[in-house]
Amino acid sequence: MPLHFDCNATTAASEASIEAMLPWLGRPGANPSATHESGREAARAMRIGREQVAALVGARSPSTIVFTSCGSESTSLAFHSAALARPGLPTMISTVEHSATRKCAERSGEVVEIPVGPEGALDQGAALAAIARGPALVSLILLNNETGVISDLAPIGAACRERGVLFHVDAVQAPGKMTLDVEELGCDYLGLSAHKFHGPRGVGALYVRDGAPVSPLMVGGPQEAERRAGTENVPGIVGMGVAAERAGALAGSEEAQSEVRARRDLLERLILDQCPGTVVHGDPTRRAANTTNLGFNLTGTGMDAAALLGLLSAQGIEVSTGSACNATQAAPSPVLLAMGVNAPLAASSLRFSLAHQGTPDRSTIEDIERGATAVNEAYSAIAALADH
Ligand SMILES: Cc1ncc(COP(=O)(O)O)c(C=O)c1O
Repeated sequence: MPLHFDCNATTAASEASIEAMLPWLGRPGANPSATHESGREAARAMRIGREQVAALVGARSPSTIVFTSCGSESTSLAFHSAALARPGLPTMISTVEHSATRKCAERSGEVVEIPVGPEGALDQGAALAAIARGPALVSLILLNNETGVISDLAPIGAACRERGVLFHVDAVQAPGKMTLDVEELGCDYLGLSAHKFHGPRGVGALYVRDGAPVSPLMVGGPQEAERRAGTENVPGIVGMGVAAERAGALAGSEEAQSEVRARRDLLERLILDQCPGTVVHGDPTRRAANTTNLGFNLTGTGMDAAALLGLLSAQGIEVSTGSACNATQAAPSPVLLAMGVNAPLAASSLRFSLAHQGTPDRSTIEDIERGATAVNEAYSAIAALADH
């Protein structure tokens, strides 16, 4: 059995989510726009999913939730809507955004990029100064997919509100790891993706504050209150709703967070003890409990994280570099580079991300020990090359 330490990349749908979805996969007539009884039942199921997702983010009304196909589509919808509502103005992002945000911003025109400090924390002063200049949209990641660092976005939301600037929060990584509250964040848009919190792949959502502009990316039918055309993915929405309920409970459970933190800390300690010169990237005090991003000292070996990844993968240990890589060379992560990590160390870094107990991708203490041993052996094998 592979050890799955790559849960920020994706998670398996929970049993409860799959069970809830199954009847909707084969149900005749389950088009929520249809006026007959089968259609009305599908609409009812979808309404429950919308309520569950709205509750996850603390939205006042389920009507603020637009279902999409993934996190990237949610981000695209927010950028597209802001660009049409406020044409010709720049967008503001940070230097540690997901590529979906970065690419949407670049496509929208002028981009103002706000730096982060060495621990991944947003330069709040620079952000507030940029907001004062009145961009069309501010788009920031809440919980970083590569480092797990959580940003303090409430002051940004408050400044955006005051200036009338639209504010999008990429919360794709947040469910299950922290509680979400769109009122506290002060955002106009907030994006989610079900496969990051034990829902199915292929469904996401965008929270849109009442009154915030929305221009559909896809046009056609009047689905999603004219905000996204196309017959809705009823099984996916039902599965996402069930997963959202569970994610909300996990985020609110100190016990669940402590348990995953204990496994993450054990993994980290076992590796740091055995692999000299290894560093932990990101603010240790503002980090999701499940994530650690470790930079290995591979100086003089001619190797980088891709070599570690290959050795671990051969033993069924699934981790990632957190950035695109080919078989032999890891590209240094732009997120780590933006935090001031030097390029060789950034290219020698691996992200480990764990799942909570009670989920299909969970790991045990024994799994953590086995994983750490494999990492230590892989590191030793590569480090030995430095001597020759
Ligand atoms: C922070 C963040 N934003 C956006 C996305 C895009 O989500 P999706 O894969 O559902 O399009 C991801 C996925 O890796 C992510 O981690």
